[in-house]
Amino acid sequence: MTALVLFGGGGDLAMRMLLPSLYFLEHDGLLPEGLKIIGAARSEETREEYIAKVRAAVQGKADGHWSDDAWAKMEARLDYLAVDATSAESLKPLRDKVGDGSVTSFLAVSPSLYARIVTAMRAAGLAEPEDRVVLEKPVGRDLDSFRAIDDAVADAFGEHQVFRIDHYLGKETVQNLIALRFGNTIFEPLWNNLSIDHVQITVGETVGVGDRWPYYDEYGALRDMLQNHMLQLLCLVAMEPPSDLDPDSVRNEKVKVLRSLRPVTPDEVERVTVRGQYVSGTVEGARVKGYDEERGADSDTETFVAIRADIDNWRWAGVPFFMRTGKRLPEKRTEIVIQFKPVPHSIFDRDSRGEARANRMVIELQPEEDISLTVMNKRPGLDQKMQLQRIDMSLSWGVGQKGAEPPRRRIAYERLLLDALNGDSTLFVRRDEAEKAWEWVDGVSASWAEGKVKPMPYRAGTWGPDAADLLLARTGREWKTNG
Ligand code: BG6
Repeated sequence: MTALVLFGGGGDLAMRMLLPSLYFLEHDGLLPEGLKIIGAARSEETREEYIAKVRAAVQGKADGHWSDDAWAKMEARLDYLAVDATSAESLKPLRDKVGDGSVTSFLAVSPSLYARIVTAMRAAGLAEPEDRVVLEKPVGRDLDSFRAIDDAVADAFGEHQVFRIDHYLGKETVQNLIALRFGNTIFEPLWNNLSIDHVQITVGETVGVGDRWPYYDEYGALRDMLQNHMLQLLCLVAMEPPSDLDPDSVRNEKVKVLRSLRPVTPDEVERVTVRGQYVSGTVEGARVKGYDEERGADSDTETFVAIRADIDNWRWAGVPFFMRTGKRLPEKRTEIVIQFKPVPHSIFDRDSRGEARANRMVIELQPEEDISLTVMNKRPGLDQKMQLQRIDMSLSWGVGQKGAEPPRRRIAYERLLLDALNGDSTLFVRRDEAEKAWEWVDGVSASWAEGKVKPMPYRAGTWGPDAADLLLARTGREWKTNG
């Protein structure tokens, strides 16, 4: 028998994401035969009580996909054990429950406990050669604290047994980007500084920090979003073609990109970065509080960051990658914009609108999952002088599949849980990748500290401080959401 153990099995991540994902995998017949799912948490409760909670959580997410049969199968797999995960003694009954089978343990608990938990797991026999551990972010808040935790992990598990999750890599469109780049011949010859002007990566959220502030105040947007999700997206856009989809082939290419990121120095920091913090404003029609008001005290934590990253290698020399992310922005929008260069010489009317911005590829992760390519087209009609217009061609699912039901939008964790259970770490973050990402991000935060760069206020419901627009305007460019 193999088992998936969810430490923190009664917590927010487990109830909101992990257990519903497991239900969907069950529904689609994808869970391995005989797999047991064991919730492990501190609270003393019975299996029946736990199952009732899981059922409610899953039903809340299942929408039109609830099936009594699928639930019955999942229920039969479920079990619960009250444990103190930091104590080897307390973990022994868990090992006994699983018997001789292999265990994949998902740590959905506070990362401050990771080191103690893996040490206890090792002593309790839950870190045998065929076992695996899945770590949710954030692992550490800088390179040193990452290493301290990861050293403890490495004492218990080999690197091939460690699955560091970045849930952005489980998103369908992110994988579609890999398919698009390396499954076609037409894009790759253009995918460089000869044809691409710049890249934009935006992760906008309408939510505020709210009662997550005790965590968030320690991290800020730079560490919460940029160190992981956004740098991962940047890597997938910028990496060289891997020789195959083997986990190490892909991750070797990503780590090369991270190594090529130009460090942000104190001299440059105000030119290439923007820090912001929301003050009260209106988001989606509702008045909302500022961050300091939510927190109940003044804070220097940024809830918005925009950065110009330069990748110092042959492919990307001279192509800036602009990234921005923030809370309390006007919309929940995650997109990557590949902006191609304008034609070298235009034969059309100068006022043909949008010509300069033609040829951009937009990889939209949220709110829709879509990849589209903008091209110039003749405006139909008998205009004396030919007029151009921009059209957006969708390149993702749906085109050429007329009449077919669109696939259900999956939770990113479905893909990742399945891969972890199957031992495929292609979509997980290797230790050296995480280290390089921290190293770069540490350079940014150290430069902020040295230059005493404080977050600039921005009104909730706007796209961050004006300085974020200036970051591009200074180079003659603008964010796609403005243009
Ligand atoms: C998490 C961050 O990793 O990602 C949150 O900790 C953020 O602050 C979330 O809200 C965003 O994820 P998604 O999938 O909704 O874009």
